[in-house]
Amino acid sequence: MNNHALFQPFQFKGLTLKNRIVMAPMTRQKSPDGVPTEDVAKYYQRRAEGEVGLILSEGTVINRPASSNEKDVPHFHGEKSLHQWQAVIQAVHSAGGKMAPQIWHMGKMKPSSSGWLPKAAFEGPAEMTLEDIQNTINAYAQAALDAKNLGFDTVELHGAHGYLIDQFFWPGMNTRTDRFGGNTIAARNTFAVEVVKAVRAKVGADFPVILRLSQWKQQDYNAKVATTPKEMEEWLLPLSEAGVDIFHCSQRRFWEPEFADSDLNFAGWAKKITGKPTITVGSIGLSGGDFLNSFRGQGAEVGGLEELTRRLDRGDFDLVAVGRALLTDSQWVKKVKEARTDELKGFNPADLAVLT
Ligand SMILES: Cc1cc2nc3c(=O)[nH]c(=O)nc-3n(C[C@H](O)[C@H](O)[C@H](O)COP(=O)(O)O)c2cc1C
Repeated sequence: MNNHALFQPFQFKGLTLKNRIVMAPMTRQKSPDGVPTEDVAKYYQRRAEGEVGLILSEGTVINRPASSNEKDVPHFHGEKSLHQWQAVIQAVHSAGGKMAPQIWHMGKMKPSSSGWLPKAAFEGPAEMTLEDIQNTINAYAQAALDAKNLGFDTVELHGAHGYLIDQFFWPGMNTRTDRFGGNTIAARNTFAVEVVKAVRAKVGADFPVILRLSQWKQQDYNAKVATTPKEMEEWLLPLSEAGVDIFHCSQRRFWEPEFADSDLNFAGWAKKITGKPTITVGSIGLSGGDFLNSFRGQGAEVGGLEELTRRLDRGDFDLVAVGRALLTDSQWVKKVKEARTDELKGFNPADLAVLT
């Protein structure tokens, strides 16, 4: 597949990728007290050696007292954690890879099953004072600047899956009556728009900023932020104008159309609406199984890439993110490129316990 569209380089601002394949962000909880270990660096380095075009780190949390609900989710603040993140990006660069951290605040959460709790109460749109909001915006911006200063190639903001930024989009959790809430998506967009503007102001015009969004929430798989193309415009255009360069459009299954009367998926609509590059994701290279069920021990078989490449060739999106297949097999990209189809492995849930 050497000459295939999947293996054409991608260029945007200063970011040059050797191919169109992105490692999807995947929480691993292998960073004791928030500090990534050498094993974490090697895990990402193996994906760089395996020729992943762009590696997105697992979600790594900003400097707020309750940004995480688990002890071993990595921090993206504090001297020790940032020092180790520098080791990660150096390891990835030494193997010819490119990487962004995925900057995360979980927002209002239930305590995790481990029973671990952060030092302060969880904060979401309903709880946060205006001062909390401003400090949180500043913490996102600082994390993005730190990513740039540590040498990362780009940064991704996690605005998906029902975590803090997404909680502001969603009327189910954003019940505010000030300028950060309201009956329209334009009103509920304010927090995200201000985060993006603050990030852009810190990192400057040339550093690429990716925003990950989803319609669905972990709290409600059928929820939708935008129910029509017009609402999607009202959602995405202000974010694009605020400074998002690349939209990462999270779906559980990339082939599912977003609206009636068109087979375009979320990344397809986002590209059509904003004119910016987009990343698609969701069960690429796999058949059967759903990533949310992976946490309940469900695996997935190897699947074909025909429908994906049909859409890529048509220009629906620019980049394709692969999650579970790359969690199981660091060499997935190379095998696809060299058409070593027999060697592809699918997803084995046992791999969640280890950094293979
Ligand atoms: C173990 C695991 C952890 C994940 N953690 C994150 C995360 O930290 N941030 C995020 O945006 N998505 C996360 N996801 C979702 C993936 O990025 C991806 O969207 C999802 O797995 C669908 O892609 P796939 O079908 O190729 O696995 C996670 C998925 C898995 C399987």
